[in-house]
Amino acid sequence: MTSAISCRSVCKTFSAGAIAALKDVDLVVEEGEFVTLVGASGCGKSTLLRTIAGLETHDSGSILVDERPIDGPGVERAMVFQNYSLYPWLTVTQNIKFTRLLAAHTRDCSSADVEVAAGRADALLKVMGLTPVADAYPGQLSGGMQQRVAIARALMSRPRILLMDEPFGALDAQTREVMHDLILHVSRLEHCTVIFVTHDVEEAIYLGRRVVLMAPRPGRIDTVYEVPLPAARTQDMKHQSGFLRLKQEILERIRATSGLKTDFDLLQQLSRQTTNT
Ligand SMILES: Nc1ncnc2c1ncn2[C@@H]1O[C@H](COP(=O)(O)OP(=O)(O)OP(=O)(O)O)[C@@H](O)[C@H]1O
Ligand SMILES: [Mg+2]
Repeated sequence: MTSAISCRSVCKTFSAGAIAALKDVDLVVEEGEFVTLVGASGCGKSTLLRTIAGLETHDSGSILVDERPIDGPGVERAMVFQNYSLYPWLTVTQNIKFTRLLAAHTRDCSSADVEVAAGRADALLKVMGLTPVADAYPGQLSGGMQQRVAIARALMSRPRILLMDEPFGALDAQTREVMHDLILHVSRLEHCTVIFVTHDVEEAIYLGRRVVLMAPRPGRIDTVYEVPLPAARTQDMKHQSGFLRLKQEILERIRATSGLKTDFDLLQQLSRQTTNT
């Protein structure tokens, strides 16, 4: 297997004297692999993703994509954010085609190119179940629909690497389940390599071939878990004992590494003060 992404000893500190956001991060992701990233708030998940996307620089270490050091963002990498980030004044179809439109304006584009792009946009609309709302504006769509548009837009340029930062964080549990099966299906169909950040351990296990757990202060990789499930996932697997055991193990490790705990003495003090006033 060739590696799609190779991070070696990646370090990043945002300002002098601050604790490192990333310290000696080593992560190799194989072509076509789906890796999920979990960990306590502030452990550097978004920073790592943004650095791989080329949206942040790193201080030392190396990040190779297809064996070549990255130099800023590239068309082979697409990012999907939690807040959809659609253009509200463009329709669903126009949002999906937006990057292609920009490309067509900045360099020569044959009519054949435009036709191919239109065909791909139509196919993406279909696979994402967006054809009925193709001419609607983002403000007229539910959160789940908006996120499907954002994913379709990211896929429009045929990226080989999809970087997703808590993309389903704002969705309800049922919509999330649908999105999980959709993203697994589409990533396999498109042969995408995916790094997917989430706070939801169940989501991380269900989607990932490996779950990478990061820990904070400094931001680092703590443990990498192989998910003991077949590549084709089904919702009922979430109830299997192996799945539940792994979920428990990861949750305990996040708790242990987060440095956060409930201070019952402080809560009692607060409750006494509240009842005395
Ligand atoms: N632009 C920035 N400027 C300064 N510090 C930053 C910046 N972005 C992130 N940090 C710091 O880097 C560390 C890692 O932040 P990051 O956003 O990567 O964490 P995270 O794991 O994604 O957290 P969360 O789960 O809350 O999204 C934190 O200490 C954060 O305060
Ligand atoms: Mg984050």
